[in-house]
Amino acid sequence: MAPYKPPAEGRAGKLRLDFNENTVGCSSKVLAYLKAHLERETLAVYPEYSATRAALAKFFDLDESQLVVTNGTDEAIQVLVNTYVDDGDDVIVLHPSYAMYRFYSEVAGASVRELSYRPDDLAFPLEELLDAIRPGTRAIFLANPNNPTGTGADVDSLRRIIERAPSAAVLIDEAYYEFSGVTAIDTIREYPNVFISRTFSKVYGMAAMRIGCLLTRAGNAAYLRKGQSPYSVNLLGAIAVRAAIEDSHYVMSYVAEVMLARDLVYDGLRRLGIPFYPSMANFVLFRAGDRAIEIRDKLRDEGILVRDRSYELPGCVRVTIGRQDQMRQFLEALGRIW
Ligand SMILES: Cc1ncc(COP(=O)(O)O)c(C=O)c1O
Repeated sequence: MAPYKPPAEGRAGKLRLDFNENTVGCSSKVLAYLKAHLERETLAVYPEYSATRAALAKFFDLDESQLVVTNGTDEAIQVLVNTYVDDGDDVIVLHPSYAMYRFYSEVAGASVRELSYRPDDLAFPLEELLDAIRPGTRAIFLANPNNPTGTGADVDSLRRIIERAPSAAVLIDEAYYEFSGVTAIDTIREYPNVFISRTFSKVYGMAAMRIGCLLTRAGNAAYLRKGQSPYSVNLLGAIAVRAAIEDSHYVMSYVAEVMLARDLVYDGLRRLGIPFYPSMANFVLFRAGDRAIEIRDKLRDEGILVRDRSYELPGCVRVTIGRQDQMRQFLEALGRIW
């Protein structure tokens, strides 16, 4: 299998528009809460999660038994594959999408089939996906909204997929939910084969702490926990998340800022005559043609990091949307280079 090697070193001090993180940082209340709860002995003890689980269950309005706390979405994907996918099983992923669905499925020896987003507008390929589902399909991985296309599916479309694939574990990865406002969380009550993942790596600005969760029916969650290390989430993340979910004001104001900044980027790209795909998330994919890698490199020379995606979508570059002043800086640099 091909290794997954994101260009993740040497990013400090640069304008980080390459990983769809919060470009500012976490809420200062998170940092204060962490400081208040850390003592030497705290770090010497294996982590306990009951307070975190209770807080998250309340936050998502679910029972604690329906929630698995994970080391980011990555562990959510891994645990789901560990639990439901065996060697040779049929797994469906979309293309392009988040690389770790294929990665963990391949580690498990699954037979991975890939369906493409629609070529013209990168829309969600609903009919193609419905047609591709087989009676033996074991897992389907969907990011909604999707990275890197920024496009998404509505909940009724997701329902049709879940219903068509009763033998499959259907993961709906809602890493960018706060930006799209679309969630399939209610489908947990309707269907036994749906799993929703959420992360604190994106809008919450806590990617370094690696915490997320998987939401599903209680019976599924019990199976998932069997395939998970008992201490996979470190204590810092488990503590920090309790403060993070209390500070909804921080999240809402960051999302509002990103929405304004995204419009600014749309306008700037239009002015430069650069085609782009409208996005439901905190990133925008634009078409730089055969200059994609050159544009990425020249922006990096100016201290601005963006992500080349031309290896999967010819000519495409993805830029994370941050604050308006940061996006003005990006547009000015792009204007000079373009
Ligand atoms: C769709 C999607 N899911 C999950 C992740 C990673 O999430 P985490 O940091 O929670 O593992 C990303 C990160 O880029 C993503 O784009």
